[in-house]
Amino acid sequence: MNKIGNFLSVVFLLLTTFTVMAQERTANILILIHSDNGGTYELAKELAKGIETNKNVHAVIKQVKASSNPKLKIIPVASIDELANYDGIAFGSPVYFGNISTGMSEFLAKTVNLWTNHTLEGKPATVFMSAGSGAGKELALQAFWNSLAVHGMVLVSNGIRGYENIDKTIPQGNSVLGTTSLASLKNVERPSKSERYLAELQGKNFAKTTLALKGTFDNTEKMQQTEKTVDINEALKQKNIVLPNLPKPVGNYELFSRSGNLVFINQVSLKDGKVLNPGKVGVNVTEEQAKEATKQTMLNIIAILKEAVGGDLNKVKKCVQLIGVFNTTDNYTQHALLMNAASDLTVEIFGEKGKHTRNTQGAYSLPVGSSVSIQAIFEVE
Ligand SMILES: Cc1cc2nc3c(=O)[nH]c(=O)nc-3n(C[C@H](O)[C@H](O)[C@H](O)COP(=O)(O)O)c2cc1C
Repeated sequence: MNKIGNFLSVVFLLLTTFTVMAQERTANILILIHSDNGGTYELAKELAKGIETNKNVHAVIKQVKASSNPKLKIIPVASIDELANYDGIAFGSPVYFGNISTGMSEFLAKTVNLWTNHTLEGKPATVFMSAGSGAGKELALQAFWNSLAVHGMVLVSNGIRGYENIDKTIPQGNSVLGTTSLASLKNVERPSKSERYLAELQGKNFAKTTLALKGTFDNTEKMQQTEKTVDINEALKQKNIVLPNLPKPVGNYELFSRSGNLVFINQVSLKDGKVLNPGKVGVNVTEEQAKEATKQTMLNIIAILKEAVGGDLNKVKKCVQLIGVFNTTDNYTQHALLMNAASDLTVEIFGEKGKHTRNTQGAYSLPVGSSVSIQAIFEVE
């Protein structure tokens, strides 16, 4: 009786565990697009609809860069680092010369870090495209696959899905690699009803595969945990980085200006109300002193940034760009070396999110005699 009792307890425990596991299995899919005229976006919305027919899977559409097209400018822009946080990614792009679009290609070219860290390895990916006539559409889909294969992503094809239900009296953008739309063939509105239907089926199939593969590669969970556990305010304390008091504006301007999700800040090397190491590099300021002034300037910027995000630096999504201007002699060329003091500090504080584009310049003179001035742009929540 005791053995039967034990056996029943084990069965009950297993059933409870499986039920809890089944309930908790959810997935997040990013639909990452580039679109100029909106055709790719239309397909993306159908994919999202298909994905979300599975109530455990959530889809979000983002674009690779901001668009000035009124139909597209509301779509949020994805950062490179956030790709690590999704369980699967559906990539959409226009066909450009039988290839992926320039915008998508530029974005993928910035994923080298993810590639070398194997971050996307084992994650499912699927592709879809908006074409004109459709000339070279399968070459373009294949080219998309080539890039994603380098990342080691699991490429999910669309197969001959839904063929029996599509309108075969007009050309359709069906392909076994992924849905396309033949946007310049206008005898019907494009994407055609059948192309929308195929995109929705692709979304449904992709959600199923993503859910099934979720968690099969350790890297995803590790990345998510790291992202979540690094508390930047805490990390500052651990690294003994003390942010200075906020400087006061000395004219008709503000310490920071926020436009949408971007924060703009400009600073010089003020410390405790005085300029740290003022003068000209190569004349009365050494390179070491200029680096010290550069670090101080960046600390001022980060102190102001903290104010801009309500005191919580975890709300900073990315350092987008830094521009460093140095007061130097005419023949000085090592501006980049000086600016590293600001770049290194930013990456030290924000990790991957701190990586930015950069420009350095020399100037004949700078305000209040500072040897350096920095302009910074950050993306925040
Ligand atoms: C530079 C350029 C190259 C293109 N090359 C092709 C092509 O090789 N094959 C094709 O079918 N359409 C081609 N097109 C048309 C686009 O793929 C088509 O307009 C697409 O629907 C744009 O997508 P979107 O509406 O998301 O911007 C090209 C368009 C541009 C601007």
